Amino acid sequence: MKIAVGVLGATGAVGQKFIKLLEDHPWFEVTEVAASERSAGKPYQDVAAWKQTTPIPEGIRRLEVRPCAPGLKCRIVFSGLDAAVAGPVEESFAQAGYVVLSNSRNHRLDEDVPLVIPEVNPDHMGLLPIQRQNRNARGCIVTNSNCSTMFLAMALAPLHKAVGVEKVVVTTMQAISGAGYPGVASLDILGNVIPHIGGEEEKMEIETRKILGRFNGRSVDLADFAVSAQCNRVPVEDGHTESVSVKLARPVAAADIVTLLRDFSGPPQSLKLPSAPERPIIVMDENDRPQPRFDVNRAHGMATLVGRVRSCAVLDFKFTVLGHNTIRGAAGASILNAEFLKSQGLMD
Ligand SMILES: NC(=O)c1ccc[n+]([C@@H]2O[C@H](COP(=O)([O-])OP(=O)(O)OC[C@H]3O[C@@H](n4cnc5c(N)ncnc54)[C@H](OP(=O)(O)O)[C@@H]3O)[C@@H](O)[C@H]2O)c1
Repeated sequence: MKIAVGVLGATGAVGQKFIKLLEDHPWFEVTEVAASERSAGKPYQDVAAWKQTTPIPEGIRRLEVRPCAPGLKCRIVFSGLDAAVAGPVEESFAQAGYVVLSNSRNHRLDEDVPLVIPEVNPDHMGLLPIQRQNRNARGCIVTNSNCSTMFLAMALAPLHKAVGVEKVVVTTMQAISGAGYPGVASLDILGNVIPHIGGEEEKMEIETRKILGRFNGRSVDLADFAVSAQCNRVPVEDGHTESVSVKLARPVAAADIVTLLRDFSGPPQSLKLPSAPERPIIVMDENDRPQPRFDVNRAHGMATLVGRVRSCAVLDFKFTVLGHNTIRGAAGASILNAEFLKSQGLMD
């Protein structure tokens, strides 16, 4: 029998992606959709401004939207809640015994909350017993990173593990869907670039270091390197592109960097988890790729695409990264975390 799951913030950009990705999921079935008081009490199809390229799943269309409060008939809740409300709502679900998989920034940096990419730092799930004890909670909160951090941390992980990262400079070109719906006004973004995304640079600079940090059995020691991020909103529908320069602990040939990236793999791959991409990192050889329009849906939007690996005159080398912000950067990441938890018996 499938595990009943709920989606908090089900009407939003990330919430919709959860509903789309969970349609026909082999382990999980959406039984509850919840959103704000504005939507609660109404059929899902009447309140969700559905922007996916497939129709609302039949079993969801007429589901009554519930308020975001414990009492939902499910074991797991996936949260795509607005950060203005996510903190206490997710906490109340964890207290009530639910396993909460969150996309919001609110709990990512809590000392006892795992911020996990299962290919990169699965051992950080070791924080869960500590969290349950600290909070005297039957449930728990597991977070995935900010969308642009996801692709940066994924690309740095094999390099940090094998060689050691010392400095990172990253400039992002982030899709409009990253701002939710209705998001950025068309008159602000059409034919334009906005060189500011509130809070995004700070999130990239700290979350990357937590993900690549070391779990010491009680907490996570942040990775000891500096990240300098500049984040831009660009008129792209889906897919965050990032130009990254890295200094490593010792010189490494570009060809060896490519091999490290290409060969990278983790527990989701060896466990063959349902949402795991065959390869978490796809290295492209063409000198004008990856591009969001053509490449963002590779591996069902679950891969991190890397291209243009070459030496850098200031730091050691540089490359381009691309990933699907609402799939691997949000809903798909939470679902993979839930699959990993289940595979390890961590939901029992
Ligand atoms: N978009 C991305 O690429 C992306 C990637 C990674 C992480 N995130 C994070 O994921 C979260 C959701 O982002 P989004 O882009 O999906 O935003 P969004 O489209 O604006 O959706 C926000 C959701 O939160 C609900 N909500 C708002 N106020 C609420 C309240 N007072 N009580 C209960 N529910 C409330 C909304 O319900 P109503 O429809 O009823 O108002 C809606 O379902 C944010 O924390 C964001 O930072 C987004």
